[in-house]
Amino acid sequence: MRIALVCLGNICRSPTADVVLNARLQAAGLGGSVLADSCGTAQWHVGKEMDPRSAEVLESAGYDASRHRAQAFGPEWFDYDLILTMDASNHADVLAQLPPERHEQVLLFRTWDPEVEPGDDVPDLPDPWSGGPEGFREVLAVIERTCDQLVEDLLESEAAEQP
Ligand code: 4NP
Repeated sequence: MRIALVCLGNICRSPTADVVLNARLQAAGLGGSVLADSCGTAQWHVGKEMDPRSAEVLESAGYDASRHRAQAFGPEWFDYDLILTMDASNHADVLAQLPPERHEQVLLFRTWDPEVEPGDDVPDLPDPWSGGPEGFREVLAVIERTCDQLVEDLLESEAAEQP
């Protein structure tokens, strides 16, 4: 199974989610069966490292942010099983590129945020890029609790599939 995490620049939110989700998948023993990768809808930063403010927040929480290089969303991402978008704008940009029969596999990342009340609209993961350091810390906190819930659901689906 492959999960694509998509934001705008692929230097702040989706790479942070990529690093955290991969760490959680490894810890849950799903590292071999679920692959998570990230990209942005814009081409601006392709090939660049993570934004240093995101990298610092990740590294101070014990993650390795050094291996990321930004990638852009395009046809090679279309057959990922799940395409998780960070905000409504990324969501619309992805849907505009994807063939209609693939729209079902695109969901907002915070669909799994345990702090969102069932039935409420799924909120955006706010873009921290033009703000201060607290925005980057908040992004990591939302990503960690959302990835915990997502991995729990993946473990449940895997258990349900066992004969
Ligand atoms: P991201 O944040 O989409 O979370 O990677 C941004 C990064 C760069 C820009 C905007 C948002 N930018 O305008 O260059």
